[in-house]
Amino acid sequence: MTASTATHVILAGAGPGDPELITVRALKAIKWAEVILYDALVNPELLKEASPECKLVYVGKRKGQQEYSQDEINQLIVIHACRYDKVLRLKGGDPFVFGRGHEEMTFVKERGISVEIIPGISSAIAAPAAAGIPVTKRGVSESFWVITGMLANGSFSSDLELAARSSASVVILMGMTHLNAIMKLFAEHRSLSEPVAIIQHGTTQQQSVICGTAGSIGEIAGRHGIGSPAVIVVGNVVKEATTSEIVHAVEVKMKVAV
Ligand SMILES: C[S@@+](CC[C@H](N)C(=O)[O-])C[C@H]1O[C@@H](n2cnc3c(N)ncnc32)[C@H](O)[C@@H]1O
Repeated sequence: MTASTATHVILAGAGPGDPELITVRALKAIKWAEVILYDALVNPELLKEASPECKLVYVGKRKGQQEYSQDEINQLIVIHACRYDKVLRLKGGDPFVFGRGHEEMTFVKERGISVEIIPGISSAIAAPAAAGIPVTKRGVSESFWVITGMLANGSFSSDLELAARSSASVVILMGMTHLNAIMKLFAEHRSLSEPVAIIQHGTTQQQSVICGTAGSIGEIAGRHGIGSPAVIVVGNVVKEATTSEIVHAVEVKMKVAV
């Protein structure tokens, strides 16, 4: 099977969760598409913007319920590009931030199919912002690191230790499985009272935010049932959060004793 010369694949970011935080161009792509292959973190509200004839294909991977491997997803994009001229691959956040978007783009391009990238707003920045936490602030933090808490093989990223040794704000995606081990690192290299926030379902109606310290956040998260998908923010910028954004599971705040 080969794709026609008119075939075009768009690989777009759907933004962090709030359906209004998608780009104008990605929204146009949803309306344009004949088929949309979408992930678990894409807000279903966005799919209502697709044409009634559009074929919607769920290719999400969630912990404990992986339906397709990455290889199968790559193949599915190509298979659909051979049947349809307008194919949209829609991914949560930004496709190139821990999204394996570049692998998908390369796989499709290597088969002679044109691919356009539409960036998205990543949860790495949007979730902290929605909780009132600036990832940088003059006089507080000069840089921020975005790190995965878990590598594809299920192990721990060694970059976490380097980040913990720095003075940067640290934003950790996919870190809930190893939360206690990650916090132990920060307690060792910074201190037990290092400020930490966790934002679950950031920017959505279900957003929950908890604040604590490296020494206390694991227990607080357990008590409030905070789990994935969540962004963990470590550093003094957490103290800048305003209580009005701490909508659920409030554990006020940095003054929490460890
Ligand atoms: C496979 S990564 C994809 C990241 C995505 N490409 C991005 O730019 O936001 C999935 C992880 O992103 C984070 N994440 C995505 N959406 C989120 C949200 N609305 N709130 C909190 N964390 C989110 C979680 O850490 C989740 O486990």
